[in-house]
Amino acid sequence: MNLKQYLTERTKLIEEVLLTYLPTLPKVAEQLESAMRYSLFAGGKRIRPILALASAEAVGGDPQAVLPAACALEFIHTYSLIHDDLPAMDDDDWRRGQPTNHKVFGEAQAILAGDALLTHAFAILASPDYPVPIEAEKALRIVWEVADAAGPLGMVGGQSADISQEGTVQEYDAPTVLRYIHTHKTGALLRAAVRTGAIIAEASPEQLAALTLYGENLGLAFQICDDILDATGDPKLLGKPVKTDAQHKKLTYVTVHGLEEAKRAAYILADQAIEALSDFDNAAEPLRALARYTVERQN
Ligand code: IPE
Ligand code: IPE
Ligand code: MG
Ligand code: MG
Ligand code: MG
Repeated sequence: MNLKQYLTERTKLIEEVLLTYLPTLPKVAEQLESAMRYSLFAGGKRIRPILALASAEAVGGDPQAVLPAACALEFIHTYSLIHDDLPAMDDDDWRRGQPTNHKVFGEAQAILAGDALLTHAFAILASPDYPVPIEAEKALRIVWEVADAAGPLGMVGGQSADISQEGTVQEYDAPTVLRYIHTHKTGALLRAAVRTGAIIAEASPEQLAALTLYGENLGLAFQICDDILDATGDPKLLGKPVKTDAQHKKLTYVTVHGLEEAKRAAYILADQAIEALSDFDNAAEPLRALARYTVERQN
């Protein structure tokens, strides 16, 4: 398959639908609308929504039915980036090739834009206006999947550990702590993206288990590559500064295991993700290609 073309088409579709979910606010709150729009349309890779659609496709489902949930995942991801870049967290000035949200709108509006994106994601998920109707029970299950992955048991827990481990003396169990950080701050939402698409598309329990394993391996590979790109990537291609993990004395796969081992681990995890799909037919080809892309990407 032609992954480049697939990514271009899917990105276009997702961005068209994302726009329809951006709320229109009165003049007194126009700063919030602008700040939300700014980061949502700053040109991310849209990996989480693309994974949700590809996962539905892999089990013969209709990607259209997954679009609201896919967009909700991108809202949550965008919120996490806005907050991740704040001075109180990673204190970064560039994201997606543009000044970070707080640099343009100030910290207060950036925090609020993050809050708004997170909360509105759940309004999208629970809305009665699904373009392809979905049973209330299934909608509730999706709300739970996404909330569990985004909250303290998922992404926010991982972000807290990431921050609290900064600059600490690395103890013997650094690999265990690192694994918690990676599987939670990044892995949880990627896993949820894959599971959400599969659940909406009525995957069988066996298919869901296989896709979950795919999502877990891919999630870990994705963050290891993010760490590698921070150490070795080109900031122009990445759209964000490099070597900031070392400056902040972050616990990363590169600092704990070294660059060569990080590359090796990422490729092994991508292979394991693909291996998890061994019982799937050609409909899972986009997912297989996305696993390879995760470890070969330059941004
Ligand atoms: C960056 O995510 C932050 C991580 C969770 C690693 P992405 O690499 O998916 O960022 P965008 O959305 O493409 O900008
Ligand atoms: C961010 O991890 C993870 C989340 C935003 C949840 P990083 O801090 O490594 O992401 P980048 O490198 O700033 O994109
Ligand atoms: Mg961070
Ligand atoms: Mg960061
Ligand atoms: Mg990073």
